[in-house]
Amino acid sequence: MDRIRITGGRPLRGCVHVSGAKNAVLPALAASLLTDAEIRLDRVPAVRDVETMLRVLGHLGVDTERQAGAGVTLRARSLTDCEAPWDLVRTMRASILILGPLVARHGRARVSRPGGCAIGERPVDFHVEALRALGAQVSQEHGYLEARSDGLRGAAFTFERVSVTGTENALMAACLARGETVLGNCAREPEVTDLAQLLIGMGARIEGLGTATLRITGVESLHGTRHVIPPDRIEAGTLIVAGALAGEDVEVEGCRPADLQALLERLRYCGVPLTATDSAVLVRRPSVLGAGGVTTAPHPGFATDLQAQFMVLMTQARGASVIRETIFENRFMHVQELRRMGARIRVEGHDALVEGPTDLSGAPVTATDLRASASLVLAGLVAAGETIVHRVYHLDRGYERLDDKLRLLGASIERLGS
Ligand code: UD1
Repeated sequence: MDRIRITGGRPLRGCVHVSGAKNAVLPALAASLLTDAEIRLDRVPAVRDVETMLRVLGHLGVDTERQAGAGVTLRARSLTDCEAPWDLVRTMRASILILGPLVARHGRARVSRPGGCAIGERPVDFHVEALRALGAQVSQEHGYLEARSDGLRGAAFTFERVSVTGTENALMAACLARGETVLGNCAREPEVTDLAQLLIGMGARIEGLGTATLRITGVESLHGTRHVIPPDRIEAGTLIVAGALAGEDVEVEGCRPADLQALLERLRYCGVPLTATDSAVLVRRPSVLGAGGVTTAPHPGFATDLQAQFMVLMTQARGASVIRETIFENRFMHVQELRRMGARIRVEGHDALVEGPTDLSGAPVTATDLRASASLVLAGLVAAGETIVHRVYHLDRGYERLDDKLRLLGASIERLGS
């Protein structure tokens, strides 16, 4: 199992390029199930979750092919199976994204019910309720969710709580449902809007992009298209926080600062010098970093996927910060590891109270989930001495060569085989 070794204290300098968004490419890959024509996706990041989704689709009978320059072509001409098995789903919860498109186009889908994970219980009841509203029969047996339909019908459905993949599943299914569907309390994450744009490129009729209400008029069939995956705002945010921690002028380029407003606003509040253009952010470490609390919320609020990274920054800030997690119930797994590096953090329910500044010291630490791993790497950049991050397969699920990118900026970071 790979580990990452970081020797802290090196300044970061230079320009780093952001890869395509993991959370945009996963629904885009699933959307290929909605048509028998070819879908070509560009700027597909080389991350493990993409490999897993390609395996799920391959298992269903979709022809998938990698093209030069981070391209992937997909063609779901005829399917050989309608089931996403447990051994694939257990490594990636987003496999649930095939449920909507499969039942919409093929009338049947069987997906192993995702279990809990390190950050909490993570139910899928909203996905099921939305598909039922569209007329699918959904049952659960032997650990599998099975959805059947002899033709979905448009309906009005309002999500009880904002769900990103729940919105995406319902949106994909509604594109092929007869008549009009109105989805309320939808997620407004940029990845949802990007999926809607891809679907419109395939011939879907969708209104209300970027708002909480999506109106979909079903069509008979969808056609092929070519689509560029947007830059990964969470990767960009992680690199920007790295710049705020250790940067002597770091340029994070090829991102969309407009999608990162909540983070950028907080960094400015804490005194981090940064300049944003249309597609890049220039950032450096301030001489004095102020404390600042955040509360995670659905977009455009502060992203839960950047909470752990921001917490590391606050260990270096002067004063106390309260980090409140409202999306997932158990997303403070990184706290124990950061404490082992010397951070002063206390968890009280949904709040983590960070006392700064603290001199972190390098230690062997264990990654527990994707974003927690990124936070441990960031902590290693400013810790005295050597930090070894174990279980970096979590990191590789969603970051394209984060270690290489940081090394190019000047970090002392290397990957060790098992
Ligand atoms: C997506 C992102 C993930 C991000 C999360 C929140 C992808 C592939 N993953 O995950 O990186 O951290 O959004 O921004 O895009 N919930 C229910 N019932 C459901 C579905 C969700 O109660 O059926 C709850 C969840 O437990 C959680 C909240 O709703 O408390 C939001 O979860 P959701 O937006 O669905 O997260 P994902 O789509 O799984």
